[in-house]
Amino acid sequence: MSSIKIAPSILSADFGQLGSEINKLEKAGADMIHVDVMDGHFVPNLTIGPPVIKALRSYSTLPFDVHLMITPVHKYIEDYARAGADIITIHPETTNNLESSINLIKKLNKKIGLSLNPDTPIDAIKKNLSSIDLVLIMSVYPGFGGQKFIPEVVNKIKELNNIKKKQNIKFDIEVDGGINFDNSKLVIAAGANILVSGTTIFKENNGDIKKNIDSLKLI
Ligand code: DX5
Ligand code: ZN
Repeated sequence: MSSIKIAPSILSADFGQLGSEINKLEKAGADMIHVDVMDGHFVPNLTIGPPVIKALRSYSTLPFDVHLMITPVHKYIEDYARAGADIITIHPETTNNLESSINLIKKLNKKIGLSLNPDTPIDAIKKNLSSIDLVLIMSVYPGFGGQKFIPEVVNKIKELNNIKKKQNIKFDIEVDGGINFDNSKLVIAAGANILVSGTTIFKENNGDIKKNIDSLKLI
């Protein structure tokens, strides 16, 4: 079995039937469900919040990988934990006190992820790497699905993977934005082990989700 996990982003799903879309993803072999939460402030787009996540919870037993693109994030963390998030990923720019937001997510017994925008250096979270579960490397500027992959992030993934190996620490490396059947191989070779994908999963091969999930895992 492949050690690469696929986290389909429901941003590209049919919002009129999110429940059945999530169900389809699970049946097609998705490893987790990536939920993009946008506030129209940290990013120039608005999506869904805790009540929708809570309503979707019963449609799948897969982990909900909740990517919070909201600021200030801290006061909302608990709402997302209660709504049914399993992994809560935040951007360091969205909290006044990164350590305390990390600790809050841990206290709520959720996995903690930190996300780096294309222009945010690894240095911004270097001292937190040993206390988190996941780093989400953005390969587009967050806000919208369907954007073009920024190739420079491949080196960033390599750099992060080198730090991980050198310091012998364990965390997942997840990549998000513009992932397709070509660059998937590049990011996996660079050290990523979780791939987020919206457009490729839902639109390629006439929407054959299973085929698209399987193809993204190929190396
Ligand atoms: C961008 C989101 C991504 C994105 C992925 O802000 O965080 O999850 O929707 O979608 P594609 O694969 O279409 O880039
Ligand atoms: Zn995302």
